Order: sequence, then structure tokens, then C-alpha cells
Amino acid sequence: MFHINSLNVSYGESKVIENLDLELNKGEILAVMGRNGMGKTTLFKSLIGILGCGSGSSIKMEDKELSSEPSFIRVRNGLAYVPQGRMIFPNLSVTDNIRTGLDSTEEKSVPDYVYELFPVLKEMGKRKGGNLSGGQQQQLAIARALVTKPKVLLLDEPTEGIQPSIIKEMAEKLKTIRDMHQVSIIVAEQVLSFALTACDRFLVMEGGSIVHSSDRSEVDAEKIKKFLSV
Ligand SMILES: Nc1ncnc2c1ncn2[C@@H]1O[C@H](COP(=O)(O)OP(=O)(O)O)[C@@H](O)[C@H]1O
Ligand SMILES: [Mg+2]
Repeated sequence: MFHINSLNVSYGESKVIENLDLELNKGEILAVMGRNGMGKTTLFKSLIGILGCGSGSSIKMEDKELSSEPSFIRVRNGLAYVPQGRMIFPNLSVTDNIRTGLDSTEEKSVPDYVYELFPVLKEMGKRKGGNLSGGQQQQLAIARALVTKPKVLLLDEPTEGIQPSIIKEMAEKLKTIRDMHQVSIIVAEQVLSFALTACDRFLVMEGGSIVHSSDRSEVDAEKIKKFLSV
């Protein structure tokens, strides 16, 4: 339902992503794995429209071509993005942080399902975002993305800087989000245990290309581990 074809992304003269193809199925959780500098964040930024893509590139949500649309149109068409490092607003309250996601919708108040999924965000509604722990900020960033009612959720390294004890819980949350809302999820990750818990399919990126792809049923964890550690 989400199709990427011949995607090209450059920083000036430096090509980072070349002719990348990717298909995402409805309700699928896809891992994009790879070491630092391999192009995961560049891929996500180009999908959401923070970075432009080269001619011939196609990014389609169902039948709608999005590759030359601005970010807010992509969001309106069902794409949501949780950036690496979370990028919440540290001086806004938790509730107001979530509300920034509502700006693109008709809704005025934070829907109940957000608090069912992340009860801590209700308890801490009046606190400043910057005073939450890393794991809580990640929940906040996901909540802010979810209220835009995405069809496809892009999560860039959600486990970065998060305590190992919470990582497993977060993998389970991703599956809950998928099951509750029929959202498809692409998650960039370097933590294999997280990906193995949460994801249906695994891609590995190197030098801006996909060098390995496997389904959950045939996944070779040792092989992926090698890609991540070389
Ligand atoms: N703003 C930028 N300007 C120039 N090169 C960049 C910029 N951001 C990232 N790069 C380069 O693009 C490549 C991919 O980086 P990135 O997408 O951040 O990888 P990852 O998210 O997998 O760590 C790296 O070689 C990185 O140095
Ligand atoms: Mg990155």
C-alpha cells in the first residue's frame, strides 16, 4: 500500500540513496537495519519530505504520488514520522506536545486511545516534555505522530538512549499500535533484539542500498548481526 520506487537522495553532490525500491504491506511492521551512516535517517527524511528526492523518484501512498508534495500534504495522506532523537518540544507540556499533532486533524482534544496505550502521558500531562525520561519522551513522540491517524508510521531508532528494560515493552507497544489501528510501521533500528520482537520483515541498509531482506519466518539473526557489527 506504500510504494517507493527508484528513490534518489543527495546532499549537494553527494549521493546517499540511489535507486532504492521498497514496498510496505498493510499492517506490516518492517525493520530497516544498518550501522550508523548507512542512510536510514536520510531515507526517512526524504519519505516525509524534509529532504527532496531526485527526478524519477516515486513515493506513493496507495495511488497518491507524494514525492513532490510538501510534508504537511504527506501527513494528510497518512504518513507520520517520529524523528531520531524524538525532537519533542521540551518547554511545552506533555499534553500540548501531543496537541501539536492534532493541528493537522479535525479533532480538538487528545483521543482516549493515546492514554490507553501510554497511561504515563496522562499522569504527566502537565509536566514539561523536557522533564520526562528518554522512554517517556519516546512514547510522547509516538503519541504525537499517532494522533494524525497515520496509515504509515516511520520510527527512526526509537530505542536509542532508552533503558534495556523498557526496550522489550516498546516492541510490544508497536505490535499493539499495529493491531489497534491497522497502521503499517517502518522502524529504523540497530538493536536486533527489538527488531526480532516487533517486526515481520527485515531489511539491512549499507551505503544507501538494501543489501539484505528476509521475512520473520526465515530470518537469519546471525547474518543480520554481522551486518550490524562489521
Ligand atoms: N546534512 C548532511 N549533509 C551531508 N551529508 C550527510 C548529512 N546527513 C547525513 N549525511 C551523510 O549521509 C550518510 C547517511 O547518513 P544517515 O542517513 O544519517 O545514516 P543513518 O541514519 O543510517 O545513521 C552518511 O554518510 C552521512 O555522513
Ligand atoms: Mg540515523
